[in-house]
Amino acid sequence: MFRFPFKKKEIIETAIQVPKHIAIIMDGNGRWAKKRLQPRVMGHKAGMDALQKITKAASNMGVKVLTVYAFSTENWTRPEKEVTFIMNLPVEFYDKYVPDLHANNVKIQMIGEHSRLPEATKTAMANAMQKTKHNTGLILNFALNYGGRDEMTHAVREIAQAVLDSKFNPGEIDEQLIADYLYTNKLPASLRDPDLVIRTSGELRLSNFLPWQTAYSELYFTDIAWPDFDEKALHEAIKEYNRRHRRFGGI
Ligand code: FPP
Repeated sequence: MFRFPFKKKEIIETAIQVPKHIAIIMDGNGRWAKKRLQPRVMGHKAGMDALQKITKAASNMGVKVLTVYAFSTENWTRPEKEVTFIMNLPVEFYDKYVPDLHANNVKIQMIGEHSRLPEATKTAMANAMQKTKHNTGLILNFALNYGGRDEMTHAVREIAQAVLDSKFNPGEIDEQLIADYLYTNKLPASLRDPDLVIRTSGELRLSNFLPWQTAYSELYFTDIAWPDFDEKALHEAIKEYNRRHRRFGGI
């Protein structure tokens, strides 16, 4: 059943609009752990638990797509142990959380360059996508080994090849065609661009996350570390989104 999380008074007085596509840079796991005198990886584990809760909260609110930055093309430079730990999270996530998400009609998808992922990670993601592929609710879209510049490089190569194969002329390349060659082409066409980008833990940048798709997104930054980001914090972000006036270049 659809449950609206805001107070009745707020809905009546302000007609809250829920963003259709929310993208999240889940930052601050390491600092969260350090503050608790725990190894950094415990922050990632707590981050995975937070992700499960936020996915369900977003789904209950009627969000259609939740794209989460789980591992960037730059994250391979981290210590090997940390990379291995993060790469194993999808395996744990599949066993611990996918059954519940599946029961909640959540569909799991992925963007990023998957060939470099370890076999176990690829298998866990493939299983999660296969299991949930007929679900019609929120799309939980994992950005895994994702980088915006890598995505564009990949798209340019494919477009150049398509021109060489005489599929279309360079003059026919327009914004729509480029969007069709990005990793987000697996999302429904009207939902590819995030309405709202949330970055936790205080940094004020996008870090190579969806540079094409966020051209007109509203950006929201909070000091809360990702493992502490809860339903209340999500509501705050959506309230702030409702204060913004989206003009898309118009007046
Ligand atoms: C950034 O925090 C976080 C990451 C690079 C990993 C995020 C991954 C998750 C939250 C789990 C995702 C779940 C699955 C199933 C893949 P940071 O380590 O840069 O934090 P810091 O800036 O405090 O060091």
